[in-house]
Amino acid sequence: MMRIIQEDQAFMLEKYKKILIKVKKESNYRQLQKIQENYLDFSSNDYLGLSKNKDVIEAGVETAREYGAGSTGSRLLSGNKSIFTEFEEIIAKDKKKETALIFNSGFQANSGVLECLTDRETTVIFDKLNHASMYQGIFASGAKLIRFEHLDYNNLESILKNLNSQKVIIVSETVFGMDGDIADIKVLSDLSNKFNTLLYLDEAHATGLYGENGYGLSTNFQLNPKTTIIMGTFSKALGSSGAYIACSDLIKDYLLQKCRSFIYSTALSPFCIGAAMKAWGIVKLLSKTKENLFLNAKNLRKQLKSLNFDVIGNETNIIPILCEKQEIMKNIKNKCFQNGIKVSGITKPTSPTPRIRIAITATHTAEDIEKLVEIINEKQF
Ligand SMILES: Cc1ncc(COP(=O)(O)O)c(C=O)c1O
Repeated sequence: MMRIIQEDQAFMLEKYKKILIKVKKESNYRQLQKIQENYLDFSSNDYLGLSKNKDVIEAGVETAREYGAGSTGSRLLSGNKSIFTEFEEIIAKDKKKETALIFNSGFQANSGVLECLTDRETTVIFDKLNHASMYQGIFASGAKLIRFEHLDYNNLESILKNLNSQKVIIVSETVFGMDGDIADIKVLSDLSNKFNTLLYLDEAHATGLYGENGYGLSTNFQLNPKTTIIMGTFSKALGSSGAYIACSDLIKDYLLQKCRSFIYSTALSPFCIGAAMKAWGIVKLLSKTKENLFLNAKNLRKQLKSLNFDVIGNETNIIPILCEKQEIMKNIKNKCFQNGIKVSGITKPTSPTPRIRIAITATHTAEDIEKLVEIINEKQF
């Protein structure tokens, strides 16, 4: 018996080794990079520079002093500090929803909530380029997944027309984090109402930058209050960590009973809550900063296009350059790195096409952008 177990172990380890070899061969091998703090960073999601904002950090420290470094338990046990409820009420009001629920990360929110809102009898109609965390939730519940072509709402409608399922949910990001384009929330909402489905929107990249006062694109629309569920993160433009779900009282109550990633995890640290709450208050005051950021992004897009780079996306601050081959993507990335610039090189499975992802933040100056263009302009790629 013992011998058999050892053989099984050896077999499993051998399998991991083979997978690693395969990943390396396909050039999809991921490695943690050595930290380079002083690089000019175009890879960060800290879109408003708030992770380094003095008031945000101070608020985090103050909250930690008052409530502790950690939350000491899950929200349903010892972890439910008053600051959570306070922040949830603010989020709900600003998102124009009945209520909100804070999660430890965007990944935990998406994967946990979609897992618990769906089951094997549910059909999930899903933008093909949605984030991995949403795929994770659907895979976990075993729901039927039907993907529509990215932003192709004719495709979505024809899928909906041909469905005979009663339990349907449409899932989409509002600002697509890897493609820098924007979903048509009005069309998504109209289709959701017409076909009586739930609608789940991920505002991870929209929170802080887009919509009324920066509280996400969904705030620009009158969405069905009972059937729309909105997720957003504190981990990108808010410069902290954590996430929220803004929804109806019924959905929140259901999540409290059933959502395992909420129930069985220690609540977010008070530092993160204090910092995120401060940042949430600051973003509505930054309209000039945002204007400047979008102007910088527009200029960069224009310059890259005029240099014949295959730039996709539209009016967002996320600027992806599609690369014909993985090699080209790597060369651009390395060239930038050698010149003190960080850009993200994205490849399968994160994105179907190799690309350089550039994120413009409020801390970038016109000179920073000029430097970036100068480096990737050299026609050697
Ligand atoms: C669209 C989208 N949703 C969810 C997440 C996960 O958020 P978090 O980093 O807070 O776990 C990300 C992060 O990369 C994202 O891009």
